[in-house]
Formats: sequence, structure tokens, C-alpha cells
Amino acid sequence: MKPKVYITRKIPDETLALISEVCEVALWEQEDLPVPYEVLEKAVVEVDGIYSLLTDNIDEALISKAKNLKVISNMAVGFNNIDLKAATARGIMVTNTPGVLTETTADLTFALLLATARRLVESSDFLREGKWKTWSPMLLTGQDVYGATLGIIGMGRIGEALAKRAKGFDMRIIYHNRNRKPAVEKELNAEYVDLDVLLKESDFVVIMTPFTPETVNLIGKRELSLMKKTAVLINTARGGIVNEKALYNALVKGEIWAAGLDVFEEEPVPLDNPLLSLPNVVALPHIGSASKKTRMTMANLAAENLLQALAGKTPPNLVNVDLLKG
Ligand code: GLV
Repeated sequence: MKPKVYITRKIPDETLALISEVCEVALWEQEDLPVPYEVLEKAVVEVDGIYSLLTDNIDEALISKAKNLKVISNMAVGFNNIDLKAATARGIMVTNTPGVLTETTADLTFALLLATARRLVESSDFLREGKWKTWSPMLLTGQDVYGATLGIIGMGRIGEALAKRAKGFDMRIIYHNRNRKPAVEKELNAEYVDLDVLLKESDFVVIMTPFTPETVNLIGKRELSLMKKTAVLINTARGGIVNEKALYNALVKGEIWAAGLDVFEEEPVPLDNPLLSLPNVVALPHIGSASKKTRMTMANLAAENLLQALAGKTPPNLVNVDLLKG
């Protein structure tokens, strides 16, 4: 009998074909929107595997309904949308798609940093709105990136890829992480510092940590107040790491200079979120890994993780490795 799988969204045909070859597939494809929780709750009861996206809330209540579930394969590097503890307690494997999106996400992060520093969106709007009357000495002036200090909070794969790009811009690189990374320090001349020192000394503060209970509101009023008035905050990790109210206040009061955000506490970000009213906020719709090639690779890697787990093997990107011990 083929294993039963539920796929929570329309995925590329090629990926669907890979899964359909060996599994009995049901999927949510009514529209390109997240599957309603109640639909997923019913769908999971009998399935052996779930192919999920970061927009699916796979909590304990949902996991407890699944009688045969062996694997939840998330098509994302982040997996904060899944209750890992609840899955592990029931022996359910959770997998993600690390590695394959590192360079693409670092590209986007650096693009957002440049766009925010040099006011690209505001400048483009200025031109299109017919406001460009003449070249003017201080018109739409921004912050220099070349030679500035970059503070990376979270020196994982993507942080390291970002630091490599920054080296080409002759930036001083400082970082904060749970543990030190001697290889990165040596190769990229990066300096490990306390979080407060990073906030005080950086011209660009970039958040690259996973979203965990420890990183909820890691950047709030106090942290923002330590930053330079000319500093730029970039977040391409997860929205909840920054307290948005505190960020809005800091931007309005001129405590920091600008912010580039690819992620928000609530996604899609409501259009009445006050941050969207500020010209010094560059806002993107969570597109860090969105290149055609990388999204295809992520989709297929998530399929591989799913199929390996269903075949009784250890999938390449098992998150809850504790399961291997028991
Ligand atoms: C995107 O945010 C991901 O976690 O892959």
C-alpha cells in the first residue's frame, strides 16, 4: 500500500510528480493561500506524511490528531511553524531545507541593505511621482555601505554568506552568536562581540537568527536605543525577533536611521501597520529565498526528505535528531 501524504499547497509539477510516483497524494490547491487550519486538521488524521510550508501552523493539537504520521517535511529552512516538541514526543520526524537557500537569501539580504542605505525605493517613487526637478547636492542622500561596520546577529550559514559579500565592500564585520565561530573569524576577519557592543558599534545591524523562544523580541526598545542614530536595521529572518512597536518609535524619534524588513510579526503584513507609513522603511513580502532555481531546489529537497522518511530511512535534513537516539 502506498503511504498517504497531504501537501498543503500547490507545489511545482516536477516535485508533485516525484511524490505522486510513490505516495497517495491529497493536496490543497483551491487557491494559492494557506490551507485553512480546520481542513488540515481533518486531513492529517489518516496520513503518513505532511508536506508543509512556513505558513502552516502545525501545533500540538493538530499533531495529536494524526494517527499514522511519521514525517512533517517543511519547505523552508525555518521550522518555527511546527511544534517540534510535540512532534518529537510522538516520534514524528520533522525536516527542513537548509543549505540550498543560503546564497540566495544572503543576496537578498545584501540587496535590502543596499536598497535601505541608499533609499532606492523612495528615490524610485520620487522620480515616478514627478518630483524630480533637478540634481541637487543633498537630494535623497543616504548612508555609505562601503567601509562601514556590519553587525551580524546569528552567524549561521546565511550570516557567513552575508559576511563574505560584505568583505567585498571592505566592511568591518562584527558578530554575535550563541557560540564563537573561529573559522569565520579567521577567514573573514570577523570579530565576536557582545550583543550590546554590536548594537553600539554597527552601522548596519542584520538579524540572521532562527526564531525561538530565546529570540522573541530580541531587539526591543532598549536594544534600539543603543544603536547609532545613523544605523540601519535589516531583518530577513523572522518578524517576531524585532518588537515592531519599539522599532516604529525608534524610527519616528530618529533613534535609528532606517529599516529594511523582509519579515513581519504578522504576515502578510496588514497595510495599516504603522511601519509601512514610514519612508525610511523598505518593506518586502518575505522573498529571501525567492529565486526560481532555489525555490525549485527547496521544493525537491522537501520531497526527498519526505520520501526518505516514509521509506524508513533517515532523511537528509532531519531536525529532531534526538529521534535517532531512541
Ligand atoms: C524562509 O523564511 C525559510 O525559512 O526558508
